[in-house]
Amino acid sequence: MDTYARFPISLSRGRGVWVWDEDGKRYLDCVAGIAVCTLGHSDPSLRRALGRQLGRLQHVSNLYRIPEQEQLASAIVEQSCFDRVFFCNSGAEANEAAIKLARKHGQVVRGIRGTTERPPLILTAEASFHGRTLAAVTATGQPKYHQGFAPMVQGFRYFPYNDIAAFEALLAAAEADGPQVAAVLLEPLQGEGGVHPGDRTFFQRVRQLCDAKQILLIFDEVQIGVGRSGRLWGYEQLGVEPDAITLAKGLGGGIPIGALAVKQAVDHFRPGDHASTFGGNPFACRAGLTVLAEIRRRRLLDHVQRMGELLRQELGALVARHPAQLAGVRGWGLLQGLVLKDGGPTAPELVKGALAQGLLVVPAGPGVVRFVPPLTIQARQLRQAVLLLERALVHLG
Ligand SMILES: Cc1ncc(COP(=O)(O)O)c(C=O)c1O
Repeated sequence: MDTYARFPISLSRGRGVWVWDEDGKRYLDCVAGIAVCTLGHSDPSLRRALGRQLGRLQHVSNLYRIPEQEQLASAIVEQSCFDRVFFCNSGAEANEAAIKLARKHGQVVRGIRGTTERPPLILTAEASFHGRTLAAVTATGQPKYHQGFAPMVQGFRYFPYNDIAAFEALLAAAEADGPQVAAVLLEPLQGEGGVHPGDRTFFQRVRQLCDAKQILLIFDEVQIGVGRSGRLWGYEQLGVEPDAITLAKGLGGGIPIGALAVKQAVDHFRPGDHASTFGGNPFACRAGLTVLAEIRRRRLLDHVQRMGELLRQELGALVARHPAQLAGVRGWGLLQGLVLKDGGPTAPELVKGALAQGLLVVPAGPGVVRFVPPLTIQARQLRQAVLLLERALVHLG
């Protein structure tokens, strides 16, 4: 079906940070399937591990224990502040699980009965992005994604990201007649909404307010999680521990997997409450295990910090060379946004120009070009990426 506005190229082969189209043209891939191919394309360790797994067992049902799933849950738990994990297949599906957990939390902990007249509320940020299933897209604070799909799911309210006063006002209004807010759902860094890093003071205040009322605090780390920020989890950048996080994208390095990780105290799910046929199957969990093991073995977190700094510097220098068209750079680690000025090329125009130069980048809204390369990208390749982008910029005039 015609759901995507696609570029007119077909990619048929990849190796490391490079991909080739069917005509043999090579591209430097700073999209990585939109923050998915953590280890790059056709990574030998992932190929080996997945080949072996396929030779042993690819899928069984969650009717049975799955050792690879238990190992991946342990790997996440050992390296985070969480205790329990539910596996699914995508970011939207992970957020659906989180939304269901939030409603149950509202009932069990806060005594919110959850009627149509007075639904449990989940507060999310304007310009957020949480996926495209009906509840996840309702959570997404961008009206353009709601158009044509009314009525949306009940019980979502929005506030401006990083705005303490607005958040406090919304919370006070929502709780004026007693408990009604079940959860707050936030990205530690807004990716799709324009690459806006979370503000530490704001997040710490949200944590305090949620603690005071026993409101569930959930971070959507679908894009920023699994090493992309230079820390394994985005919450580490903010000095705040959420009660739960959602993961997907980079966790499987290109194999579909999603996860909801929670602290023991808010694990309200009981057998029968939630499920997914494919969720956490041996093949996908082997991918997740390999990605996490390789991040450690290759010390990729240090690497991402160094490469993120380099990318910021290089993009900063680009901004200084083209002040009429470029406004600045923002982001964490290897999720960086180049902010464009009005009057120059738009992000979609610049992305299209970059493609012609052999560089893949992706817009984050109309005014930001996003870099989300494999975490394995090297300094030389990052410099080359910025050079290619500059060529595209100059070419567009
Ligand atoms: C922060 C965030 N949450 C959720 C999603 C949705 O993930 P998926 O496309 O795997 O459903 C995305 C995808 O871009 C995302 O960036």
